[in-house]
Amino acid sequence: MTAPDTRIHHLVARRVWDSRGRPTVEAEVHLHSGATGRAIVPAGASRGTREALELRDGGAAFGGLDVQQALAHVRGEIAAAVTGLDTADQAALDARLVALDGTPNKQRLGANATLAVSMAAAHAAAAAHGLPLYAWLGRQQGIDMQANALLPLPQIQIFGGGAHAGRRTDIQDFMVQCPGAASFAEALEWTAEVYRHAGLVMQERGALAGVADEGGWWPAFGGNEEALEALLRAIERAGFVPGEQVSIALDIAASEFGRGGRYRLGLEGRELDSDGLIEMLLRWCERYPITSIEDPLAEDDAAAFARFTQAAGTRLQIVGDDFLVSDAALVREAAAAGAANTVLLKPNQRGTLSETLACWRAAREVGYAAIVSARSGESEDTTIVDLAIGWGVGQLKVGSFARSERMAKWNEALRIEERLGTSARFAGAAVFGRNPARARG
Ligand code: PGA
Ligand code: ZN
Repeated sequence: MTAPDTRIHHLVARRVWDSRGRPTVEAEVHLHSGATGRAIVPAGASRGTREALELRDGGAAFGGLDVQQALAHVRGEIAAAVTGLDTADQAALDARLVALDGTPNKQRLGANATLAVSMAAAHAAAAAHGLPLYAWLGRQQGIDMQANALLPLPQIQIFGGGAHAGRRTDIQDFMVQCPGAASFAEALEWTAEVYRHAGLVMQERGALAGVADEGGWWPAFGGNEEALEALLRAIERAGFVPGEQVSIALDIAASEFGRGGRYRLGLEGRELDSDGLIEMLLRWCERYPITSIEDPLAEDDAAAFARFTQAAGTRLQIVGDDFLVSDAALVREAAAAGAANTVLLKPNQRGTLSETLACWRAAREVGYAAIVSARSGESEDTTIVDLAIGWGVGQLKVGSFARSERMAKWNEALRIEERLGTSARFAGAAVFGRNPARARG
């Protein structure tokens, strides 16, 4: 059988709408073989300052968030530069996009333009080979999906606060992980019960007020710790052993309420310095079955990030999101400083798949774990599920257990689990035992 002709024939770009009703970029890559691939880029709300730039038009329409310039770049400069390139060589294609933009953070063409093309190209190449995307990505990584597939441990939001809920709580994500589950499907079943019971707890307290940006319950609490207490109650009432079967994961997103070593907890009307915040988090870790904390300190507070890692890094997954922005160089820097032990991987923080993959490679080199993550502004696009499985990352965070832009991803992972059958291993509790940076502590 001859290999399919995976060279790019032409690109299509269109404006579609994300889960917040805002404009975003969809790209379609058409190959000589006739195969096509399509992808939609997501958008964040609590962004790190070192993320690649999402190009927005400004002006009056749609709050300045239109993407006509990014679309024009796909149709114009990018199409001219990549037409004829072979999508089977993702690294070369992405290198072309990086060189064409020519800035360190995609500020000329927009990471929303480059990432849409990068992801759509991967989909097209996979389709040309008659493979699901995760299998195509796995093959490029040298992972035999029929023998060695790894299904991710999900991190699922139950209450959504911070920038995703009008700052109703200072802490952004109150999530669960189900290390005690035997399969991905079972982890979702358990989460469904916890999510349901959390809603009942809110209802009983007269605090049920709808859902936040990522589908988590709107956190109508009097203090940040009250949300933790309600989450623990929901885990127990759903019938699970806290910590063993179901544990708590937090995204503090501290850059949203702190800089220069000062942290303002608006909900509680008090201000903490870095060590005060560290103390509060360590106290929470004693009282609640917490296994993972993301961005415990602000992105400009690297020394305190390292102090927190020193204090808790052996027993806790400490995740850098705004702090590391999926950047390979920042991961190496953080490892040298002993800050964090895990990196969040969000492709739109970089603007190409290959740069995101380079970050995952850097993480493995320095002994960090990783979590593939969605953004708060999402769509029906499920590419990140394929990345988590195809790259064998082991963890996946896509928001809560409601709203179809979230469920599309969980449901796609279920389909892949079914398709892989017994050849796939569920990351499960092993996630917390296979992080060398934590053992090093
Ligand atoms: P964002 O938040 O997509 O709004 O930036 C998600 C996160 O902080 O993990
Ligand atoms: Zn985050």
